Formats: sequence, structure tokens, C-alpha cells
Amino acid sequence: MSHVRPLIAGNWKMNGLSADVDSIADLAARFEERVPATRVAICPPATLLMEMSRRLAGRGVEFGAQDCRMESAGAFTGDLSPEMLADAGAHLVILGHSERRAYHRETDADVAAKVGGALRAGLEPIVCVGEDESQRDAGRAVEVVTSQVRGSLPSALGGKPFCVAYEPVWAIGSGRTPTVDQISEVHRAIRRELLELFGESGRQPPILYGGSVKPQNAGEVFSAAEVGGALVGGASLLARDFGAIIEAF
Ligand code: PGA
Repeated sequence: MSHVRPLIAGNWKMNGLSADVDSIADLAARFEERVPATRVAICPPATLLMEMSRRLAGRGVEFGAQDCRMESAGAFTGDLSPEMLADAGAHLVILGHSERRAYHRETDADVAAKVGGALRAGLEPIVCVGEDESQRDAGRAVEVVTSQVRGSLPSALGGKPFCVAYEPVWAIGSGRTPTVDQISEVHRAIRRELLELFGESGRQPPILYGGSVKPQNAGEVFSAAEVGGALVGGASLLARDFGAIIEAF
């Protein structure tokens, strides 16, 4: 198990308007006391980062972005640099989410380059990996995930704060979750890979589980080996559900 604090991060995806910032203020009030033991983060759409981080500064909740470009500035219409996201109050950034890999054709090499940009700007990356259903059915889950870990994590990460999120594509938004044994198997394989890539410092990064985490299954998910927190999509949009997941850790 990692020696650093577990992280429960909410991935709002393309959801949320300024009116929704209030729900996070309520959540922060509820968790102010627990925050030292468990890190709690919200990754809202970039449009809300600045308002959320300003309103909730010093309240223990951290903020993250959902993607970034690797460059710091330039002619990239519509994109955001890691420096801009840090300036808007982000401390973390999700990279290589399967929705980015699928809809924007991001490769492991693209993700590794973005990780480099995130480090330059002082952002802590949450790097996502996970097999799709046909890969799992073919018995290739561990092979696919470890290859993504190798390809998406540049050596520059050694000794730096970062997280890996194991998110089986077939479990995202589907209401289906792997068994505890399946989660344990993949998380142990990721830890072995981190130790191989980064030596002893590979013991530190929390390995989050993501994919249909709900208040009803959080306790079971968190009982799996090497689970150092969660990346929560749909259930993070409801402060009550997200709060219950945090409490389950
Ligand atoms: P979900 O999404 O919790 O809605 O399945 C998780 C994610 O995509 O990060």
C-alpha cells in the first residue's frame, strides 16, 4: 500500500454550470475535518476552475483539470496549457482518460508528453489506464494495462507526486464493476510496473480505481489490494453520493 494519503477525486467530465459551485461548498463544509486523512479533489470543467478554487481556497478540497496540452502557450485554438490551468487554481490534472483516448485518439505517447507539460507547470498528473471489454474477454487486461503504464508514464515522473487511475473502459458509466479479485490483480500488476519503472519511489503513487464507483459498492472496491483511492465520475456530481464514497474509504 502506498505511504502517501489516499485521494478521492471527482471527474465532472462535461457537466456543471456556475450554479453547481454551491454543492461543492456544502461538500467542503462536510469534510473539512476528514481532509487531513484523505485528499478530496474535484475536477470540474475548466470553465469553473477559477471560481471554485477561489471560493473554496483553504477549505481542504483540491481542484484538478481534465486534460491539458503539453505546450505552455501558442497557436492552439481552443486548447488549454498546463500553466493556464495551474493559474486558474488547478493542482491536479487527469490525463489519458479513456474518453480522451477514444474521442481524441490520444496515444500513450501523447499522454506521456502531456505528463511532461503538467510537471513543468507544477501540476500533479492522474494518469488513466484501462482495458476495454474485448481485451478483458481475451484475457489481456493485465498485459494491456501494464503496457499503457509503461507508455504513458515518462521517466521524469520518478520521485514526483502523481497517481495512476485504473479505469476499465467497460466499467465507466455502465453500472458494472470488476470483482474485488479482478481489481486486486490489475492494481498489483500496476504497482509491480511502477516499482520496475521508478525503483523504490514507485511504491508511493496512489493507484485509484475508477468506473461506476457508487456509495453502494465503494466499501467493496476499497477493500481490493493496492487501492489508494478512487476516480469518480457520475456519482461525484451529487454531493451526497460523493460524500458517502469519501466516507467509505
Ligand atoms: P463513472 O466514471 O464513475 O461515471 O463510471 C468514471 C470516470 O470516467 O472517471
